[in-house]
Amino acid sequence: MDRFESLALKLAFGLVIVFFVAIVGLAALKGIDVPTCFTDFPPFKEGKIIQKGDREYEVHLLARMWVFEPNRIEIPAGSKVTIYTTSVDVQHGFEIEGKAVNLMTIPGAVNKMEVMFNKPGTYRIVCNEYCGLGHSAMYGEIIVK
Ligand code: CUA
Repeated sequence: MDRFESLALKLAFGLVIVFFVAIVGLAALKGIDVPTCFTDFPPFKEGKIIQKGDREYEVHLLARMWVFEPNRIEIPAGSKVTIYTTSVDVQHGFEIEGKAVNLMTIPGAVNKMEVMFNKPGTYRIVCNEYCGLGHSAMYGEIIVK
């Protein structure tokens, strides 16, 4: 092996070490984490219904293969519901039958919508975006009493 070839190899290897230490070391020093899914952290760690006032609700709705979480939402008639929705895995759809609600649930993004439920009844939530084998069985319900 040529003397310069050997030197070039050592320099290249040295640079790999320098960059590795610089990137990983600085990230650790500055508290920077590896990118992760934000459904790993609150408030989107789990789906939930939060009562914010009299007939006022906030729903953190997670879509995952092949369920909505929460899957059943019970509220009194005349409720205003603010829905925040995201996906844990792939892109899903979020449609409330009988309402002008049609959102996409996208990993890494939160979609928001306010909906009024004045009329009692059962409103089916359906996934209207093909998301795999269990797509046709992916639904939930909002029960307005
Ligand atoms: Cu979820 Cu289709």
